[in-house]
Amino acid sequence: MEATPIIIPTSSSAGSISSGGIPPSGDVSTKASVIEIWGGEPLSGHIPISGAKNSALVVLGGALLCSQSCRIRNIPDLMDIGRMSSVLTALGLDVSRNGSVLDIDASHVSHSKAPYDIVSKLRASFFVIGPLLARLGVARVPLPGGCAIGARPVELHIRGLQALGAHVHMDHGVVHAYVPGARGKLKGAKIYLDYPSVGATETLMMAATLAEGETVLENAAQEPEVVDLANFCRAMGAKIRGAGTNTITIVGVPSLHSTDYSIIPDRIEAGTYLVAGALTRSEITVGPVDPSHLTPLIAKLRETGTKVEIEGRNTIRVSPGEKILPTDVHTLPYPGFPTDMQAQFMALLTLADGNSMVTETVFENRLQHVAEFNRMGADIRVKGDCAIVRGVSHLSGAPVTGSDLRASAALAIAGLAAKGKTTLHGLHHLDRGYEKFEEKLTNVGARLRRIPLSEADSAAQPTSGDRLNEQPVAIVSSIPAIPAAAG
Ligand code: UD1
Repeated sequence: MEATPIIIPTSSSAGSISSGGIPPSGDVSTKASVIEIWGGEPLSGHIPISGAKNSALVVLGGALLCSQSCRIRNIPDLMDIGRMSSVLTALGLDVSRNGSVLDIDASHVSHSKAPYDIVSKLRASFFVIGPLLARLGVARVPLPGGCAIGARPVELHIRGLQALGAHVHMDHGVVHAYVPGARGKLKGAKIYLDYPSVGATETLMMAATLAEGETVLENAAQEPEVVDLANFCRAMGAKIRGAGTNTITIVGVPSLHSTDYSIIPDRIEAGTYLVAGALTRSEITVGPVDPSHLTPLIAKLRETGTKVEIEGRNTIRVSPGEKILPTDVHTLPYPGFPTDMQAQFMALLTLADGNSMVTETVFENRLQHVAEFNRMGADIRVKGDCAIVRGVSHLSGAPVTGSDLRASAALAIAGLAAKGKTTLHGLHHLDRGYEKFEEKLTNVGARLRRIPLSEADSAAQPTSGDRLNEQPVAIVSSIPAIPAAAG
């Protein structure tokens, strides 16, 4: 990274988060709560799918590019969305929410510095660096740091912005970027990404929309969320072609205009519930979702013997085969098998009739859920980036803690299939990415509830811990306010 000492032309300081912004919801309650899950109930019915978290996050950042107001629909109600809204508010934007509709007025961007306290909690908020630089010619964004699944560097974002003409240096943990020259305009360039990073592709695509001339991104990420961002930018008047392939061409325009845009459905949320259906040997449907976004997951589910049918344009049905067959899975950038489905799919393989191998190639430290699955009676060994999963006849409920968002979801759905009670801790991960998680599952017959940690602790005190697993019916019948299981 270039370390030229520079003076940033705009001397704005980080704004405090306006009370008009949308506060990150659930920060306190999720830390103090757990979800108790009583496994063994078959699911039945339809699970509605919310807007895609990862699309919504980057589209919110992309709204910074527009010097008018934008309406964005199908926004899920999630802690991460609240945090991203707070970043925008801190930059001076006016953000208001009405149900799943977000109105963002970016006509005045009064600050060029994103606040550390939010960027450190929401890695995706680093992605405002591209639109800020394109719009203001200056951006100061704290380095997001690593997280549980890996170091997660951002050098591809930085190198790409430098190729577009930005000067970048680090100062006390903050990335300072500015465009030299009176006009403060980035210049189009040909950029080859060493790795098809989703975030770097999105950062550079947004930055290039307002640059002078043509930008070509080679070895670009092809994820549906990249396409959704491109479609949002195009709806604002950007000239982008090739999104969804590995070469994206952007011809810069002087400004972007107001739009009304709807986010795509969340393929990872849909995939999580499809695996929950397969794992509990249930017949359920999920939708709306674009089945083509789930091609690798559907192929792998079918390899496990699970029946998967596409109904109409946007509904997927799963139903159980005779048994769960083992299979190998290898995570890759899209259209490969998504790393964000690895933990959930591993939950399914724990109950397969044979041995499977799961290889994680996208993140270097994303097998931490293995130890928690093993606490539930799974038989998994890790060697490097591979997990060898020996199928067992059943899982047993246990207290478990999710190390990240998808690991938490995976442990929860494993709990749905396990004998007895699973207590899921670490809900601040789960609440980042699953809207109405308990409600959606309860509506299809699952037995789970969120309770204060203090109540869970006292419930866990009796010496009959093991008996909970042996006598699930007696335990279930003593739970207040849990509806009777479907069927
Ligand atoms: C996005 C998703 C995340 C998903 C991931 C991969 C959002 C908000 N998050 O994350 O849910 O798991 O894609 O599908 O959309 N890398 C570098 N240098 C960089 C950038 C990335 O080495 O400058 C590496 C990362 O450390 C990682 C790999 O590239 O090992 C993939 O990361 P990337 O595609 O950038 O993921 P994110 O955009 O962070």
